[in-house]
Amino acid sequence: MRRGVCSGSFDPVTCGHVDIFERAARLFDELTVCVFHNRQKEGFFSVEERVRLLREATRHIDGLKVTAFSGLLADFLRQEDIHFIVRGLRSVADLEYETPAERLNHQLGNQVETVFLLTNPRYGHISSSAIRELVAFGADASGLVPPCVAEALAGKTR
Ligand code: COA
Repeated sequence: MRRGVCSGSFDPVTCGHVDIFERAARLFDELTVCVFHNRQKEGFFSVEERVRLLREATRHIDGLKVTAFSGLLADFLRQEDIHFIVRGLRSVADLEYETPAERLNHQLGNQVETVFLLTNPRYGHISSSAIRELVAFGADASGLVPPCVAEALAGKTR
């Protein structure tokens, strides 16, 4: 069985991420979205809340699982017997950022490959931190994030 994982901080999940999940789900027999804690980033939503929002935002994608893992991505892959990591690329800068992680995961994991999908240009300018910034200044993020996320963001800033 061909299994893949979409890994990320997803703080919060955006429409760009959901687009990647929908496309990646067609490539694998089983696709898992897994929330990891990036030690360089301070969390805005708790990991539990991110998982809840991801589940709600991906309800329409058949067979997709959402979970969280505290540890190395390579260890999660081993534990779940997953051999493919899916990452979205918005720009050349993303590729530069992704290259060392791809090499590391390949080295740490046994036969692990990273599959890069080009982000839909409609969402190429979106990032989770940009969404948080917009909302902090009272802007409306609808259309950039799934409706459940827009609602959760509004609840945080009320
Ligand atoms: N659409 C919109 N935004 C996108 C996107 C897309 N298609 N693809 C990426 N992004 C954005 C994200 O929103 C995020 O924005 P932000 O920086 O404002 O938060 C950014 O691009 C990339 O973040 P993310 O995908 O969450 O990755 P990350 O770099 O924060 O973390 C982990 C990646 C969590 C998977 C990585 O840190 C990890 O594996 N951690 C576990 C520990 C480990 O194994 N470390 C060694 C890894 S080599």
